[in-house]
This record gives sequence, C-alpha cells and structure tokens, in this order.
Amino acid sequence: MQDNQKEEKPQLTADLEGNYLLDKKSRDLKGIGLFYAPSGGNVHKVAKRIKQRIKDQAVDMFYIQEIRPEKFLDYQNLILVSSTLGKDAWNNDETDEWAAFLPGLQKINLEGRRVALVGLGDHIKYPNNFVDGMQDLADLVRKNGALLVGKTLPDHYTFTMSRAVEKGQFVGLPLDEDNEPEKTDARLDRWLKQVLPELTA
Ligand SMILES: Cc1cc2nc3c(=O)[nH]c(=O)nc-3n(C[C@H](O)[C@H](O)[C@H](O)COP(=O)(O)O)c2cc1C
Repeated sequence: MQDNQKEEKPQLTADLEGNYLLDKKSRDLKGIGLFYAPSGGNVHKVAKRIKQRIKDQAVDMFYIQEIRPEKFLDYQNLILVSSTLGKDAWNNDETDEWAAFLPGLQKINLEGRRVALVGLGDHIKYPNNFVDGMQDLADLVRKNGALLVGKTLPDHYTFTMSRAVEKGQFVGLPLDEDNEPEKTDARLDRWLKQVLPELTA
C-alpha cells in the first residue's frame, strides 16, 4: 500500500435518487481508508503518523485533491483528517479543501460504513472555535448513513467553545500541533486503541 495511490475506476450502482450504493467488492473490503487535506502541513504530518501507527491493519492513504468522493466506497472503515481554517475559510470553497470536497460527497451513500474523524486546530488563537470544522464532516457523513466512531471526552483540552462538541464529547479526536505538539503521540495512541476495535468491529 502506498501514499496517495492513483485512483481506480469505481464500480458503482445508483438508486433512483442517484445515490451511489455499495457494490459487492466494497462490502467485502475490510481495510481502512485514510483521507486527508490539506497537504504539506500539520494535517498531512498527522495522517502519516496515523498510518505508521496502524501496523497490522491495511491502511490506504489518500489526499482528497487526488481522488473523487466515490473512492470512499472502496472502504468499510474510514478515517478523515482535517483542519479548521475558520468559519470564513470553511465556507469558502477556494480556501478550504474539505469544504470544496463536501458537495461531491453529499451524493455518496455511506450506509454500513464506520467513520472516525481527526481535527487539527489551535486552541490559543481560536479558543471559541476550537476544531469547529470537524462538525461539518460529522454532520455530512452521518446524514449519508455512516456510523461515527472515535468520540473524545474534552477533559484534557483547554478551550472556551467548540461546535465539534455534542452531548459532552468531541465528535472526533482534536489535535493542536501549533501549541501542544508534545501531546499528539499520546493522544493518538489512546484514541487509536479506542477507535481501531470500533472501526473493525
Ligand atoms: C486562517 C486560519 C484560520 C484558522 N481558524 C481556526 C479555527 O477557527 N479554529 C481552530 O481550532 N483552528 C484554526 N486555525 C488553526 C489551524 O487549524 C491549525 O493551525 C492546523 O494545524 C492547520 O493545519 P495544516 O497545517 O494542515 O493546514 C486556523 C488557521 C488559519 C491559518
């Protein structure tokens, strides 16, 4: 398995509303698809560390600029790594790569898939919007039928507000490489211990 694999032609069928459905090949796949953006910064660094840490599991890693949303259908289990670039950027297709990707993802039926989220943020500069962007991904994948796994208690984080907290938990794993990079390894290890059994259950 290699980083940024070239896209294969997807085997897709669609229902009457145009939603893509699972093909048999996808149902049989047990590996993990790790999707990340943007490339070249903290998100990319963390995505590579996650891939390295999941040793005995097949993990394919993709930069979302190099694939189409249908690629998600090749995986029963997905990890999505994103960063929050502020509300203005998040709502502006040109500056936020995940925001530009989401409209295409809206047509993808994710029923039966498990999705775990990792969100990069900065709790010092943006204490009122800490890792907000994770919530947009959580909302969309759940709307499309996926089961969200890997929620995190906010106990060991310092922040004032976050849209990504619901019912007392972050919808995924927040990481702050800008201010507390020394905490990332332990946070990843703890989270992966929790999430890998959930992803492969
Ligand atoms: C313009 C801009 C806006 C940002 N807005 C937020 C924000 O609202 N909330 C947050 O937690 N982090 C915010 N951040 C911090 C980034 O999410 C953080 O630096 C992240 O690690 C960047 O990942 P990258 O290097 O892969 O782009 C912002 C950063 C920039 C440059």
